[in-house]
Amino acid sequence: MTDSYAVVGNPIKHSISPTIHNLFAKELNHDITYEKILSPITQFNQVVGAFQKNGGLGMNVTVPFKQAASELADTSSERVCESGAANVLIFKEGIIQADNTDGVGMVNDLQKNIGFSLLGKDVLVLGAGGAACGAIGPILREKPGSLTIANRTQSKALSLVDKYRVKHPVVSGVGLDQLAGREYQLVINATSSSLQGNALQLPHGLFAPEALAYDMMYGANAKQFLRLCSEQGAKYTCDGLGMLVEQAAESFFLWRNVRPNSKTVLDKLRKNHF
Ligand code: ATR
Repeated sequence: MTDSYAVVGNPIKHSISPTIHNLFAKELNHDITYEKILSPITQFNQVVGAFQKNGGLGMNVTVPFKQAASELADTSSERVCESGAANVLIFKEGIIQADNTDGVGMVNDLQKNIGFSLLGKDVLVLGAGGAACGAIGPILREKPGSLTIANRTQSKALSLVDKYRVKHPVVSGVGLDQLAGREYQLVINATSSSLQGNALQLPHGLFAPEALAYDMMYGANAKQFLRLCSEQGAKYTCDGLGMLVEQAAESFFLWRNVRPNSKTVLDKLRKNHF
């Protein structure tokens, strides 16, 4: 029987995860199927249960079910415990294991694909929602010089900081309107502002020389933020397509214990689609 996997979300039509996993499988000569499943908002647990019962070996989970996935699982990795969200489920011997490869996917994209080392850098994360939560732990493990979380609703940034502060005193939180006079070598957009067609306002002087602006979204959704950052002095900009490919590669590894060549797949996607 062919090993079967899927990505579940709502909406799901836009997902390019099947393309990525099929490219991994082709390159490694693995025989798998990987489908998209649209789950009704209230039926997530049932949809996962049915896929598992039918012999599925694992799932990727996307918006809005990442928190539900972490609650559904029988066991959770440290990355899930600290972020409260899971984007990977592994079905083994009747047990559901949850993991989160989003943050490590972004870190791998930054360090491996882009060649930007986080060590000692002053890093700014914009946003304190689900996307930011998954990234904070993996960024801190790379020992940045400082990590500032800036959010429109400052209290959310501060409660996120509270979770990490004891172990990582380099982390701090501010309101989005309190960034004037600060300078960063890496600015990451983890807000969903572009989905609502709202441009973020950033103060002038935010970017240090040689700074990189990174958007966790990819394609058209990343363009406005990255253009704004270029105009305001970011030397380099990059969207989150590499993050998507790297989180997929980590998922593939968790399921199949083989690490695909993610860079080849990323190059292919950039050439043909983005
Ligand atoms: P996700 O899971 O994609 O992170 P989320 O949990 O709804 O989605 O979080 C969205 C994030 O984007 C939040 O940090 C939100 O700020 P608030 O906490 O103040 O709501 C941020 N965000 C969304 N639209 C924004 C906008 N127009 N300007 C600034 N921040 C915005």
